[in-house]
Amino acid sequence: MKNKIMRVGIIGLGKRGKTHFRFYQNIDMLKVVAICDPTIDNTNIYRSDGIVHYKAYTDMLQEASLDMVSICTPPYFHYKISMDCINSGVHCLVEKPMTLCTSDAKSLSLLAEQKGIVLMPGYNYLFDSKIQKIKEVIASGELGDTSIIRASQSHNWGGKGPFSWHTNKKLSGGGTLMDNCSHYLSILEFLFGDIQKVSAFSTNNSFHLNVEDSAIIMLSFGNGAIGVVESSWNNSEGRSNELSITGSKATLKLKDTNYEQILEVNKYLTEENEWNRIVKERIYLPKGVEQLSKKRNIDNSKSLLKENTENLLEYFISTIRNDKRPKEYIANAIRTHELINYAYSSIEENKSLSTI
Ligand SMILES: NC(=O)c1ccc[n+]([C@@H]2O[C@H](COP(=O)([O-])OP(=O)(O)OC[C@H]3O[C@@H](n4cnc5c(N)ncnc54)[C@H](O)[C@@H]3O)[C@@H](O)[C@H]2O)c1
Repeated sequence: MKNKIMRVGIIGLGKRGKTHFRFYQNIDMLKVVAICDPTIDNTNIYRSDGIVHYKAYTDMLQEASLDMVSICTPPYFHYKISMDCINSGVHCLVEKPMTLCTSDAKSLSLLAEQKGIVLMPGYNYLFDSKIQKIKEVIASGELGDTSIIRASQSHNWGGKGPFSWHTNKKLSGGGTLMDNCSHYLSILEFLFGDIQKVSAFSTNNSFHLNVEDSAIIMLSFGNGAIGVVESSWNNSEGRSNELSITGSKATLKLKDTNYEQILEVNKYLTEENEWNRIVKERIYLPKGVEQLSKKRNIDNSKSLLKENTENLLEYFISTIRNDKRPKEYIANAIRTHELINYAYSSIEENKSLSTI
């Protein structure tokens, strides 16, 4: 694979599939040769440049001689499509949630291993430079012992409300907990691991659908820390990711919204820990942040997802080219699904559940 031009197919050309399509255009030695979506118009731009359009992915797998695919359909279809791609010898990047249940995630992982195929879960935030920087800061010991972790992710639906498969529990697997909290469970598993207890609450008070539009998950970690992940589909301020980690030596704060990107560590100036000598150190400001924070009236901008998605796609390609297997990311996705299942069970049973 090292010097070959890789042939890429995209299955599901909605919002996310188009993003993958766009980013693949910027990568050398790779060509999107086929797209599959039963609903898109044959005349659209994606048909140009010799790209073949299929309505059924099974035809695409038979005819297009693909090396790799991005699977960007609604979640319900991920498992079956991934199985068929792996069985056809095609490397797969599967958007999150990788599957709707843990046992399906485990079966996919096993099959990929047996067939020597790269299976890459699409948890793009693990490839976000800010999250990677946070991992470094934690590992350096700069924060000391962690006591409280607060995370939140929210967005809105352009002032309307959730639509399409998002509101159909069979196709989506759930609401904001599956959609948004899953990202942060994956991130917290990546940063800290060892989540031992889960307790969750949810409501559908914003849109009154049969999937939750707001959720809170409380967590207890093996290292003694406690945490809360909160998510909402009804944040009129737009897309927002926040994380704060309170440690015995310092507090780290991430704010990543359409208006502002901040990653800072607040710590005591002297070793005596004087209460009024706190310093704020902005440890990381991504490029272009100053301009971004001045913009107004930009809602649901995709800019926050750009860098980490590009990094994810590049990593996926590098594992194929170098014959590596993204084992830690698969383990992360499986654990994330276990934790989501615990959270939904906790909501149903109205109690806190031990995950070990
Ligand atoms: N990682 C992220 O940050 C992120 C962001 C957005 C969406 N996603 C994930 O990406 C996936 C797609 O989400 P979206 O927002 O693009 O949805 P979407 O509704 O915009 O697009 C889904 C597309 O899949 C097509 N489709 C449905 N069944 C198909 C099938 N059997 N074969 C081929 N195509 C099929 C639909 O026609 C539609 O065009 C979901 O799993 C979602 O959770 C991830």
